[in-house]
Amino acid sequence: MLAANDLSSVITQDGSVTFYSQSFDESFHSLKGAYEETMEKFIAPLECTLLQNSFWQKNSDVFRVLDVGLGMGYNSAAILDCAKTLALNIEIVALDISLAPLQKALQEPQCYKLFSSFDILHALEAKYQLHCDQNISVSSDNRSMMVYLQDGRKTIQELAHNSFHGVMFDPFSPKKCPKLWSYECLEWITDKLLKPGGRLVSYSVAAAFRQSLKDLGMMVYSIHPVKKSRKWSMATVAKKPADDKDEPIWLPSTEGSVYAPLKPFEQEHLLTKAAIPYHDPTLLASSEEILRSREQARQKSLLQSTTSWKKKWYTSLNPS
Ligand SMILES: C[S@@+](CC[C@H](N)C(=O)[O-])C[C@H]1O[C@@H](n2cnc3c(N)ncnc32)[C@H](O)[C@@H]1O
Repeated sequence: MLAANDLSSVITQDGSVTFYSQSFDESFHSLKGAYEETMEKFIAPLECTLLQNSFWQKNSDVFRVLDVGLGMGYNSAAILDCAKTLALNIEIVALDISLAPLQKALQEPQCYKLFSSFDILHALEAKYQLHCDQNISVSSDNRSMMVYLQDGRKTIQELAHNSFHGVMFDPFSPKKCPKLWSYECLEWITDKLLKPGGRLVSYSVAAAFRQSLKDLGMMVYSIHPVKKSRKWSMATVAKKPADDKDEPIWLPSTEGSVYAPLKPFEQEHLLTKAAIPYHDPTLLASSEEILRSREQARQKSLLQSTTSWKKKWYTSLNPS
């Protein structure tokens, strides 16, 4: 369980603040820019689904988003802002084990001044102060939000099936928080919760994550940086095929990034030991158990080593 004294503020390279969690030994956002990460890796790839929804469904439907790892609330606040600008109805379901990161962010003007929709998050926090419930919800005009404060694996099993257009998948990294990255957890989210045609977006480019999504029948895309000096891939966008004929993925063209199918070196990454999935068949295992069983599978595996893949594709992986 995260508590306020576990968290310390860090200023990232774009000037926005993130928190570092001592217990997870990880920061909530990339140190290259917390605000930039929210906008480039979560909002841009989801915004187009939202626009698509408004064009094709003539604004009649409510756009429903699942925020996996509410944390400081940046992703939720940013997508609420986006829906407000487009005058769309939006409903967010967010999950986390603790409200402490959001409470701390709301106390720091440098955090909450980033998004105008922090008003909804303030209202949620005020409700929590009164009742300390594990489920809190608020709504205002055409925007509503519900937060579940418990292990996310329990929450996903309580949610209505086939109900989300988009998933913002933002747990700590697989090695630090394997409970939310298991094949079975991703299966529940993509198979049961995501609507056909909906998409899951994440900062992660991990091979185990991408291969699990592919095995689950998702169409997997990469967000490639335009600037050569940046990482080989910035993030992952996965689309659930639609029931009838599948539309090609519709992605925004932004200044800083290009959305595309996985490049040959990314496809080969999925043939290495790094692509061995995390497993948690009962959705009840401890982090240690999940990591231990994956390590055993890795040791027995005859797949190509990730080190030899890195050597082969050194130039693609280290753009100068
Ligand atoms: C990287 S942070 C999320 C950052 C957030 N999306 C934001 O915009 O500020 C990961 C979050 O996952 C939460 N978390 C960790 N383990 C969890 C679990 N088992 N179930 C639900 N949430 C969990 C942490 O408390 C943390 O707030």
